[in-house]
Amino acid sequence: MNYRKWVAGVLLACSAVSLAAAQSRSSADQYLPRLGDIMNLIQVRHAKLSFAGQARNWDLASYELAQLRQSLTDAAIFYSGLPVDNVTTLGHSIQSISDAIAAKDGKRFAAAVTELTSGCNACHASMDRGYIAIRIPTDKPFGNQDFRPHGR
Ligand code: HEC
Repeated sequence: MNYRKWVAGVLLACSAVSLAAAQSRSSADQYLPRLGDIMNLIQVRHAKLSFAGQARNWDLASYELAQLRQSLTDAAIFYSGLPVDNVTTLGHSIQSISDAIAAKDGKRFAAAVTELTSGCNACHASMDRGYIAIRIPTDKPFGNQDFRPHGR
């Protein structure tokens, strides 16, 4: 099996649907987003994920986590220069967040998102981009989105 596909498989381990989507998309898409642009999406999703969890909006947290995982998978598939170890480490944190969401456990969620955030920075540091320092957000990213739980 292709190594990068294996990494993507780790990231998508608990979401067979997304894996199918990633495979069809990677062959069909003509437009290749820049890595920095994918990272900006990941940053937004990291922030929204944090706020959704803090508000105990587990449906939204679950959705944002899936979005983040998808963007990370895109980065791993399209940019083969990314260090594989750093990507798989994030896969572990993503699984922990997913477990915390399933358990509706705010403390575990916060710890797992902190672990994820360290993983972001570990990769940035290893790629001479230590100046891109990610942290748990304090200010809500979008004033036009209500992060409190709502009906489905
Ligand atoms: C496997 C390595 C790797 C991981 C993991 C990683 N990044 Fe990045 N990130 C990069 C690289 C490389 C760049 C620089 C891209 C470029 O040169 O445009 C970057 C750039 C960024 C930028 C700057 C984008 C901009 O245009 O201002 C942000 C923000 C960012 N990453 C957020 C994150 C977040 C949040 C996470 C964790 C959820 C994360 N990254 C995980 C490698 C990684």
